[in-house]
Amino acid sequence: MPLQLSHRSRELEAMAPFRRSPDVHEPQDAVVTGTVPAWLQGDLLRTCPAVFAQGSWQARHWFDGLGQIYAFRIGASAVQFQSRLLDSEAAREIAAGRAQLSSFGTPTGRTPWQRLLQPVQRSTDNTNVNIVQMGDELVALTEGARQLRIDAASLRSLGVRPYARDGLDGCVMGAHPHRDFARGQVVNLATTFGAGGGVVSVYQHDDRERVRRVVGSWQTDRVPYMHSFGLTPSRVVLVAHPFAVRPRSMLWSNRGYIDHFEWRPQDGTRLIVMDRASGKATEHEADAMFVFHTVNAFERGGDTVLDALAYPNATIMDDLRVARMAERLPDLRPRLVRITMRSGRPRADVQALGDAGFEFPSIHYRMSSGSDYRYAWGAADGPQAEGGYASSIVKVDVRSGKSRAFSDGERIYGEPVFVARPGGVDEDDGVLLAVGCSQRTPASALAILDARDMTLRARVDVPAAIPLGFHGSFIRGSEQGGRP
Ligand SMILES: [Fe+2]
Repeated sequence: MPLQLSHRSRELEAMAPFRRSPDVHEPQDAVVTGTVPAWLQGDLLRTCPAVFAQGSWQARHWFDGLGQIYAFRIGASAVQFQSRLLDSEAAREIAAGRAQLSSFGTPTGRTPWQRLLQPVQRSTDNTNVNIVQMGDELVALTEGARQLRIDAASLRSLGVRPYARDGLDGCVMGAHPHRDFARGQVVNLATTFGAGGGVVSVYQHDDRERVRRVVGSWQTDRVPYMHSFGLTPSRVVLVAHPFAVRPRSMLWSNRGYIDHFEWRPQDGTRLIVMDRASGKATEHEADAMFVFHTVNAFERGGDTVLDALAYPNATIMDDLRVARMAERLPDLRPRLVRITMRSGRPRADVQALGDAGFEFPSIHYRMSSGSDYRYAWGAADGPQAEGGYASSIVKVDVRSGKSRAFSDGERIYGEPVFVARPGGVDEDDGVLLAVGCSQRTPASALAILDARDMTLRARVDVPAAIPLGFHGSFIRGSEQGGRP
């Protein structure tokens, strides 16, 4: 078995969209075709899982690949590319032939004695899911107890972002924090596990703060895998789908985190609406679904509306295992659904919005987050009926359900990051920045699309294979506080 798995991990590394070219520590010029809007200046910073096999260690789940951070630096006259493998304790451990930190879906190598002494695995710092700005800091995130600060110029890790002893020590922080621009706050989830169950807390802090203040908590005996959540001005929405864990099963275990979770469709989906002022939570129910990503949430009078990308079940989690992906790339096209929760009605209303299935959603976050909105964008990646793998960037009008798409027939694209044109008033007045890796050659490109009509305005080619990753941020030149 180990030989076969090793073969699979290395096989994955050789395939688009997972192959990786050596690091580019110093920024190098990329080749620009087309016209980059003059107003678009700043850095696109992204993370991805990049190393799936090293020595005797093999990642068994896509989410366990050791992280890489990369940047497209868009200047007045040139675009530069830069990348660096993430310097983490997890990477150092694996390089030293140990793998004792927690993982998503790869067994750890702890001895029975180590397991006895430390029943709960130490949380990984392989922050390969997202990178966001908090105050002057760039912070790389995964689902874990540690977040890593990243030096924006060199992309080196500056160590763990410290938090005060605020009662949330050791909690699993989410990798999709929200920004509340009106209050200057970061809002995120923290899960703590106990032998009898778990507590999902919503916390917030000022951009630069180290103290996390709990807004409200929700207790449950089966803790669902919650990858993201909805935020409105006065409410938080949690999607408690029936892919959940009894925390005591994780004690003394060497299995990966997600390998303890169980799909129980008979439990249905619970939707928890938490009032941000009082912390009081009310629950609604819906049929079983599985959700990685919420798209947006807003209030409509007393109702709460959540738009999310829903899979019919949790088999996607197995489809993202390395052995499976080496055979067949996953179908990342969940349906966009609108979940409406009405005060006093236990049953939520779930409606499909249009026909386009996609992942890695994006909106005009500063304008539309938490309010009724019109446009969502995302990447639609999946096998084609006639063979091969299709990838496009889609735009969905959530009011009409109509969609349009961009594809170049060659590259597999990830999350399109929306960047608004300064001074623009329309929700789609801006560009999308999407990184795609070629299915034919070890090269990648940044596509700069007009977010209105989904046409290509410019393509930035780099002679480097960039693995498909998850999330990132565009940081405007004018917002790069504290940097030279
Ligand atoms: Fe995500």
